[in-house]
Amino acid sequence: MNTSSAPQLPPYDHRPKPYQGPSFEAVREMRSTYLSPALVTYYQKPVMIVEGSMQYLYDDTGRRYLDGFGGIVTVSVGHCHPYVNEKVREQMETLQHTTTIYYHPVIAEYAKAMAEKMPGDLSVCYFVNSGSEANDLAMLMARLSTGNYDVLALRNAYHGGSPSSMGLTAHSTWKFNYPHNFGIHHSKMPDPYRGPWGMDDPDAGKHYAADVQDLIQYATPGRVAGFFAESIQGVGGTVVYPDGFLKHAYEHVRAAGGVCIADEVQTGFGRTGDAFWGFETQGVIPDIVTMAKGIGNGAPLAAVVTTPKIAESLTQRIHFNTFGGNPVSCAMGKAVLEVIDKENLQDRCKEMGQYLMTGFQMLMDKHEVIGEIRGKGLMTGIELVTDRKAKTPATQACAQVFERAKDLGLLIGKGGFFGNVLRIKPPMCITRADIDFMIEVLDLSLSEV
Ligand SMILES: Cc1ncc(COP(=O)(O)O)c(C=O)c1O
Repeated sequence: MNTSSAPQLPPYDHRPKPYQGPSFEAVREMRSTYLSPALVTYYQKPVMIVEGSMQYLYDDTGRRYLDGFGGIVTVSVGHCHPYVNEKVREQMETLQHTTTIYYHPVIAEYAKAMAEKMPGDLSVCYFVNSGSEANDLAMLMARLSTGNYDVLALRNAYHGGSPSSMGLTAHSTWKFNYPHNFGIHHSKMPDPYRGPWGMDDPDAGKHYAADVQDLIQYATPGRVAGFFAESIQGVGGTVVYPDGFLKHAYEHVRAAGGVCIADEVQTGFGRTGDAFWGFETQGVIPDIVTMAKGIGNGAPLAAVVTTPKIAESLTQRIHFNTFGGNPVSCAMGKAVLEVIDKENLQDRCKEMGQYLMTGFQMLMDKHEVIGEIRGKGLMTGIELVTDRKAKTPATQACAQVFERAKDLGLLIGKGGFFGNVLRIKPPMCITRADIDFMIEVLDLSLSEV
């Protein structure tokens, strides 16, 4: 592996259009004047991204980057995928907007295609626009269908930033100081790296799940509406649960009258490689599944999929969503499902994920700052620590690697409560040559901390 000179991106046959919009400086000025000061930029030296093609992004100078984060785990099949774009273009030119007050073929066909991807009795879709909205709606359905109020979620979870989903989220970083938590309780984070039970303990899943039961017994009336869990925690730093965790947790929740909700916003659509849905890697079937991000490859599209019985609970009043099920978003989502099948992207995630892990292992053997490498398929993370034994979070080093990787042409994510986990979740079309580049960049960046 060549680390003496700057790593080179694999050749790629796409010429970005010459950028002719406002300058970087002008955009910075407008953004700071006219956009909310709450918006954060990801880098100390920000980049302005103006074009995308499959796994690559281009800045205003025409420089190409490998997108190792898929636009926050959202671009599933590739930026501006030609088939998806074609379907969107067709729909845009035919009918851009209608709502569910009229029949429309695309939403119906899309719901059928989605239901065919689901196991068990999960067959009824409600389309919305964002993951937060999907989780809000799932919480409403859980409460209506069970007649119970209390909801459980996991510490270190991220489920969104709307008033209700902020209550589910369990990271002080993302929780504002106002009431959003009524009836929501958070159980122990099932983190085999930092928690008391590791992956080497065959009963770890059961032990962590016992806290769900404990919470039901001590913090609720003993009856609950539901339990939310990401299938692998995303924003929380790619936390993979020990085997059996969800199975045991679901048993406790169902025994208390609750429904189980899988948040597949990051883990769905084949990304984990072993299964189409992340929850399948834990051997469970939820009662409600929420999805967003990768579902639309960048469209403002999300969904709640549930059983006919639970879906019926929403008929007590009228529930309406203006853009939920918009024909353009649905055309895009339907095209994404077709591409995943046609291009065999789930298998690709498995194969590329294994190759990526081999590279991570090489990095871990070489760089003491890596405390753990983990993930499934193309949902991966590298946790950095200043001391492998004490597991002291290497937050500063993580920020440094992250910034340097960008300067070298690789965009990745970072997360975890301490901000010390590099999150690598690229579009599912990534190649071996891209992974070689990624490992070279990380190797060089890690050597410099
Ligand atoms: C697991 C998970 N659930 C829900 C959300 C919220 O989605 P949105 O930002 O579309 O509201 C996110 C966003 O990062 C997420 O990662």
